[in-house]
Amino acid sequence: MTESMDTEQAEPTSGSAFLEERIRTLLQQMTLEEKIGQMAQVPSGGGHLPHHLREAIQRGQVGSVINEVDVATVNELQRTAVEESRLGIPLLVGRDVIHGFATVFPIPLGQAASWNPRLVELGARIAAHEAASRGVNWTFAPMIDISRDPRWGRIAESLGEDPFLTGSLGSAMVRGFQGEDLSAPGSIAACAKHFAGYGASESGKDYNTTNIPEGELRNVYLPPFQAAVDAGVASIMTSFSDLNGVPATANTLILQQILRDEWGFDGLVVSDWDSIHQLAVHGFTAGDRDSAFEAATAGVDMEMASQTYAHHLASLVHDGRMTIEHIDTMVSNILRTKFRLGLFDTPYTDPSMLPDIAAPEHLAAARHAAVESLVLLKNDVRVLPLSAESLASVAVIGPLADDPQEQLGTWIFDGDARHSVTALQAIRDMVGDRVTVHHARGVDTTRSHDRSGFDDAVRAAEQSDVVVMFLGEEAILSGEAHCRADIALPGNQEALIDALAATGKPLVLVLMTGRPLALERVVPKVHAVVCAWHPGSLGGPAIADVLFGVESPSGKLPVTFPRVTGQIPIYYSHKHGGKPGTPETFVHIDDIQARAPQLSVGNTSFHFDVHYSPLYPFGHGLSYTTFEYDSVRVDPPELAVSGTITVSAEVTNTGDRDGTEVAQLYVRDLVGNVTRPVKELKGFQRVFLAAYERRTVSFTLTPEDLSFFGRANTRIVEPGRFHVWIGGSSDTQTRAEFDLTD
Ligand code: GLC
Repeated sequence: MTESMDTEQAEPTSGSAFLEERIRTLLQQMTLEEKIGQMAQVPSGGGHLPHHLREAIQRGQVGSVINEVDVATVNELQRTAVEESRLGIPLLVGRDVIHGFATVFPIPLGQAASWNPRLVELGARIAAHEAASRGVNWTFAPMIDISRDPRWGRIAESLGEDPFLTGSLGSAMVRGFQGEDLSAPGSIAACAKHFAGYGASESGKDYNTTNIPEGELRNVYLPPFQAAVDAGVASIMTSFSDLNGVPATANTLILQQILRDEWGFDGLVVSDWDSIHQLAVHGFTAGDRDSAFEAATAGVDMEMASQTYAHHLASLVHDGRMTIEHIDTMVSNILRTKFRLGLFDTPYTDPSMLPDIAAPEHLAAARHAAVESLVLLKNDVRVLPLSAESLASVAVIGPLADDPQEQLGTWIFDGDARHSVTALQAIRDMVGDRVTVHHARGVDTTRSHDRSGFDDAVRAAEQSDVVVMFLGEEAILSGEAHCRADIALPGNQEALIDALAATGKPLVLVLMTGRPLALERVVPKVHAVVCAWHPGSLGGPAIADVLFGVESPSGKLPVTFPRVTGQIPIYYSHKHGGKPGTPETFVHIDDIQARAPQLSVGNTSFHFDVHYSPLYPFGHGLSYTTFEYDSVRVDPPELAVSGTITVSAEVTNTGDRDGTEVAQLYVRDLVGNVTRPVKELKGFQRVFLAAYERRTVSFTLTPEDLSFFGRANTRIVEPGRFHVWIGGSSDTQTRAEFDLTD
């Protein structure tokens, strides 16, 4: 029996058609002023609702507030919008929840060192729960700018230098923040930022010019954003930076052609703070009216902090320079985000619906994240792990050994240092009365230039079996607008290391830092180096667990460590070049003969005063055991343009204790329509191996995985010969090869 079909299309009651109908219905009721009101994000904060803000909300002139985290005030803001404005449209409440809210996880660069998407997702989920309990429904994270210049302070907020790793972990953060259901309590809208190319700021100086050829933009800087869009990210933030002469906040190539037309993004685009007003400062417009026109035309839906839209969009429409349809499209993106968040149905926050801020399980997760973020860079003569049984005494030296605030890192507006446990505390708790702990700061801060604390530090070292130094940078030395032109250890830290080295004691260096540091002079003087980044609330216990072998380090570098600042930019997936440096051609400046004939030295790509290799390559990280790879193989031996291949290798734990290894898959396209990098990460797996265990690791590759943007700036797949590696670092040599065939 065929049921009579209702000839009228039934009103949708769910799904995207229903959502779009709700948007259309609301839009039809809105005046132009109310539409433009939705496009304004207004600074708030301080736990109160100023009269001017209340009035603006009542008049429908505010679509979002930023920086209010007092839940009673947030509920009052929402109540004012919902019950006292004409159409009752709830507010987006934005906050930078970058690597935790009250419970602070390692900085994103540290989390990236875990190479663990599930761990990163959990951290974002916990951060979302804590932030949502204070009424926040929108975070300005993940920051997924590819960063290859550690002079740039914002590398601390990034997930490192590689598009594949950044895309994988950035998408995990999106899933963590937004959950399975964006409208559920505890889910908040994520915001992929800063679109796009911000990490290429010239000289690593924040807010500086970026010049990125479109091919490089598409092959390196955009893939993580496309991955975030594919993961369903609710919003995108534009960058402050000038991109090839057109500031990102007014750049129709990236905001319209790529983001909307090519990727089909239907979420919300928000400017960065004041970045629309700054279009005139760039010299791209003559003033706010033109800035409003350029940013709105490019498709920036919401203006953060500055008020060019509020002041000029209506007159631009009345003057016929902007259509109401274009305004409607932008306002629809905002309303769609609010509907997806469920704000029209549940605009108010009930903290009792969410776990407590800094709940024990949150702190435990932060500790575990810190353990997996630690990277063992050097461990000569196996000075690590330390043994509380055999040690009589340990010296804990440095200004960062016992600072509950500094270990939290940058971008921790709501981080609560009362939950911090420092390394000194954790070491004391761990060893108890079995080992005597001698503590000295050595220098007051990492920037200090006096030596008044050296004697205490040397004395502590002389009284101890081993010296553990906590050195690096305070949180203020990285993050937004916190850049350094020389990324050696600041202040007198190297002199302190020299003084401690003179004692002849085993030296362990624990780096607390927001960026790679140039340690060429330092590394030969110490026996072990652990990079702890800024490890967050429970960084102390995590460091103690690794130092004393309770945990074996498993972190791998998400970013290259240069030997000296002058090598920057230096990164693993560089181009081959026509005359690469080689062991045969490299000559050190000190070895050049007097009056050497011009062509007798050099002639290939290297600097005279430093070896052309990095100090530590992308993907590097040691364990307390050792791993070996062999038998890399491809099955089938050729990849058909419509097929799939499996790349496998054997990995063996060749040591006497269990450990976790991150097996990494790299490819090289030997000949391309444009030159291709010498290696590109295309897969990774964390693999736990018991002592002496041997296991097969396998990855699949498709032609799509090997596609890239060629000369025509279109994505192409080209037949040809590929090299493929599986190993524990980007400098792996365990290689096979295959042909991609037509
Ligand atoms: C800042 C940052 C951006 C942040 C925003 C709101 O200037 O560039 O990452 O989300 O303003 O605080």
